[in-house]
Amino acid sequence: MRNMNNSLRPVGIVGAGKYVPERILTNQDLEKMVDTSDEWIVSRTGIKERHIAAPEEATSDLAYHAAVQALEAAGMSGSDLDLIIVATVTPDMFFPSTACLLQDRLGAKKAAAFDLSAACSGFVYGLATAVNFLQTGMYNNALVIGADCLSRITDYSDRNTCVLFGDGAGAVVLGEVPEGRGFQAFDLGAEGAGGAHLYLEGGGSRVPASLESIEAKKHAIFMNGREVFKFAVRVMGSATERVLEKAGAAKGDVDLFIPHQANIRIIHSAMERLELPPEKVVVNVDKYANTSAASVPLALIEALEEGRIHEGDTILMVGFGGGLTWGASVLKW
Ligand code: UT7
Repeated sequence: MRNMNNSLRPVGIVGAGKYVPERILTNQDLEKMVDTSDEWIVSRTGIKERHIAAPEEATSDLAYHAAVQALEAAGMSGSDLDLIIVATVTPDMFFPSTACLLQDRLGAKKAAAFDLSAACSGFVYGLATAVNFLQTGMYNNALVIGADCLSRITDYSDRNTCVLFGDGAGAVVLGEVPEGRGFQAFDLGAEGAGGAHLYLEGGGSRVPASLESIEAKKHAIFMNGREVFKFAVRVMGSATERVLEKAGAAKGDVDLFIPHQANIRIIHSAMERLELPPEKVVVNVDKYANTSAASVPLALIEALEEGRIHEGDTILMVGFGGGLTWGASVLKW
């Protein structure tokens, strides 16, 4: 909806919440499961532990807890919601979507609801999608959630991947904010040609579930770590520079950088390129590992809880991952 200045309605975050499952899997636990070491995991990735969903917990459960907190923070209830987007690659099931399961559980009777698949970039893709609905006035508010249970699609006999992932959910409620605040710019992108470096093949229409697909371990994540690493370092730099330019901001304007938490070495390379000191960067990969779509919102919400975000701050978020995809955003808090 355009205002009197004929600019788009300003949209920002009006409530946020997070959830991680109780159970913690440490590097020491993993040492007993595969041929790895705490020293290798910490020095190559920065990860010390990760949270793993209980057997009875699924992605919608994680998402639900985060959503309830976000709605409470926004002073809203489910019935107020116009739109629910859940970014995930580990939905409870193919369909109904996790967003529809949540719509029912939250009593969000008037909300449209759908899932969005952009792997670790999913939350930023979800924000961009919802912001467009709100800026144009089609909807007044939206619940955007990044939630994943990667433990359900991880092969715990493959040391190349099983040390890297964890489970969690982060949720935000979007709504109108004062002029000059809110989301300033997005930069979304994909390099489909790199899709073969990070995928889960089984269970879809090309390789439906069968005894053979299970024996061939096609229902677990495959990753060519080195290739994804190179992609990540490249796009973290290029996407952040592009989105800052779109927002009319410079590197020096960034008050807080919230990168996807996959590997501390990738975060360090982005910090170098953006010339950012540690106090302007959120890092929690040590506690949660890579939680896919939940990674950026978990970091954002943790920074909020720690009092690291102040009114008027310029926040730069960036995610990258399967697809291959990336998504970056500049938000004026
Ligand atoms: O959110 C999706 C995005 N995903 C990512 O961002 C992941 C990006 N990639 C990475 O973070 C890194 O590539 C990894 C952490 C996955 C791997 O680190 P690396 O420094 O690229 O190691 P590498 O794959 O080059 O492997 C080095 C060695 C290999 O042994 P050889 O072949 O040199 O003898 C691996 O077999 O480390 C070995 N290795 C391990 N050793 C102990 C691989 N995983 C482990 C392990 N413990 N868990």
